[in-house]
Amino acid sequence: MKKLAAGNWKMNGTAASLSEVAALVQAQPAPVCEMLLCPPATLVASMAATAKGTALHVGGQDCHAKASGAHTGDISAAMLRDAGASHVILGHSERRADHNETDAQVLAKAEAAIAAGLIAVVCIGETEAERDAGRTLDVVGTQLHGSVPAGATAANLVIAYEPVWAIGTGRTPTIPEIAEVHAFLRARLTARIGEQAAGVRLLYGGSVKPSNAAEIFAVPHVDGALVGGASLKASDFGAIVAALSAA
Ligand code: 13P
Repeated sequence: MKKLAAGNWKMNGTAASLSEVAALVQAQPAPVCEMLLCPPATLVASMAATAKGTALHVGGQDCHAKASGAHTGDISAAMLRDAGASHVILGHSERRADHNETDAQVLAKAEAAIAAGLIAVVCIGETEAERDAGRTLDVVGTQLHGSVPAGATAANLVIAYEPVWAIGTGRTPTIPEIAEVHAFLRARLTARIGEQAAGVRLLYGGSVKPSNAAEIFAVPHVDGALVGGASLKASDFGAIVAALSAA
């Protein structure tokens, strides 16, 4: 399995930000791991053009479950593919919170993404209240079962475990806590999609930065990271790519 360093630019970036992409691919011309950046939809096509012929993959941050139609403001998986994307993030906790996305909707989007030839990066994770109540495994197990298409494979699915309370806060779970959740997710994914689960990349996300990447990447069943803030700067994201390549 090739590990995956993925960056989520969220609602950040304009055409000027593509200079960071050029710097990244220059610094990491042939990383051992896979490298993915997911910019806002406005930058997918231009980032894909910048990344053409390099090791960098480009993805979207959401797609609609339908292929086309009267859905003002939305974009389909086929449109992302047409713009040069190979992946799409789905069910990020910010979309679950801001747009009330449910597991069933995330599953429908994942099915649409896979049908359009994209790799679905499905996000799950508990809130701080849920962790404090001892419900972490229950919550992420339910999200995983409800959000992942039963027919998904190692080739078209990536899972990102992102504790909501670790996103943008500088706080992370302890190494044993990350290990517990990732081992649990591998087992639950096997129950959901069978032997293909062994090859699905399980990413950790939430305050990953150059200074903590190596110890997180040493955790069993952590097959990469989904990086927010630190993916905006080529130097930081490049350092995370290097740490994953060395893991
Ligand atoms: P930060 O790395 O900024 O905590 O964001 C994580 C995230 O939400 C990536 O999808």
